[in-house]
Amino acid sequence: MKIGICNDHAGVDYKFDLVKYLTDKGYEMVNFGTDSKESMDYPDVAHLLAEAVESGKVDLGIAFCGTGNGMAMTLNKHQGIRAGLAWSEEIGELVKQHNNANVLVMPARFIPFEEVVRITDAWLESSFEGGRHQRRIDKIPCK
Ligand code: RB5
Repeated sequence: MKIGICNDHAGVDYKFDLVKYLTDKGYEMVNFGTDSKESMDYPDVAHLLAEAVESGKVDLGIAFCGTGNGMAMTLNKHQGIRAGLAWSEEIGELVKQHNNANVLVMPARFIPFEEVVRITDAWLESSFEGGRHQRRIDKIPCK
């Protein structure tokens, strides 16, 4: 499975650490984020990740910024993206089971890296439940 990852300056360390963790687990990682801690604008990389997920260049995406909100707001402007912000393992699981999030967003400045790993594993290893949740996500795109 190919996973795109993006981050602003607030998420550089977690991006590198998570790329190593997931690469070791056998995932193919594609980096769309900045590799520098110099201040930059998260939309510049969020749109690149969104386009890669929408076009099928990558299967799923992961994004980091300080709070996670800027990334989530930008990613969710794309009609084919369901970016879910998660800050606990249970939310990581639910954002797949109920929302079928194709991008996982995490707040790099507010959770330890151990939590990032737990959230990411929960999201990757859980399955969308379909049923009433399919009906609900079908109603998300703007007409
Ligand atoms: C950068 O300082 C910060 O604003 C950004 O990482 C993010 O939290 C925005 O939503």
